[in-house]
Amino acid sequence: MNATAPRAASLGAVPFVSVAFVPYDWRQGLPVLRGPSATLREPRLADADSLAVLLGDPDVGRYIAAPPISTAGVRRFIRWSRDERAAGSVICFGIVPHGLDAAVGILQIHEREAPFRIAEWGFVLGRPYCGTGLFEASATLLLPFIFETLGVWRLEARAMAANARANAVLRRLGATDEGHLSRSFLLGGQFHDDVLWALLPTDWRQHRR
Ligand SMILES: CC(C)(COP(=O)(O)OP(=O)(O)OC[C@H]1O[C@@H](n2cnc3c(N)ncnc32)[C@H](O)[C@@H]1OP(=O)(O)O)[C@@H](O)C(=O)NCCC(=O)NCCS
Repeated sequence: MNATAPRAASLGAVPFVSVAFVPYDWRQGLPVLRGPSATLREPRLADADSLAVLLGDPDVGRYIAAPPISTAGVRRFIRWSRDERAAGSVICFGIVPHGLDAAVGILQIHEREAPFRIAEWGFVLGRPYCGTGLFEASATLLLPFIFETLGVWRLEARAMAANARANAVLRRLGATDEGHLSRSFLLGGQFHDDVLWALLPTDWRQHRR
């Protein structure tokens, strides 16, 4: 008998196997989420060059807060996101399309109400990958992790009102537009309006069907 096999015992005529369930703790390290066209995994320092080029694009940066546009800035961000994950407050996945080694986008989830019952997510893709279906493929991998592994009850997103693509993808995923937030986002020395979106597990399951 294999020494590591679960120990079987017998209860009358019915055999049973005793298995010790160890709760999965994502603070120790994120899972690798593999789909048909892309993999989500924690960003690595080796992603910094690729991400700095893609996220430094002004078309991408005009919608996100303080993009880390240098390789050194992305490296700092990657180290910070690992520390925050270990502390249990932020989770960050890199988006790696099949056939590539480096991440071409980022998905981030912040805890707003502990323990991750209310969370907010943000996302960004390098411009060459926008409009390719990669965002939808990545969201399809991430949302089960958010609702089933983390146990989020309410997932918020804030998108600049002028950001047509981000607002369209949130609507497409089944999120509800909960209102217009005037002058709620300071970027480039100017205030911008945001749209507040909420996605509940029930909305998402309905959308998935
Ligand atoms: C937001 C982002 C991840 C979406 O990924 P994407 O690959 O561009 O999205 P998709 O191509 O799957 O979908 C874009 C949607 O916007 C719609 N769209 C594109 N241009 C539009 C416009 N000018 N007006 C209205 N809708 C528009 C498309 O029709 C599509 O919606 P549909 O599928 O319902 O028709 C990506 O655009 C990005 O990284 N943008 C820069 C960073 C950013 O804005 N992050 C969000 C911060 S909250």
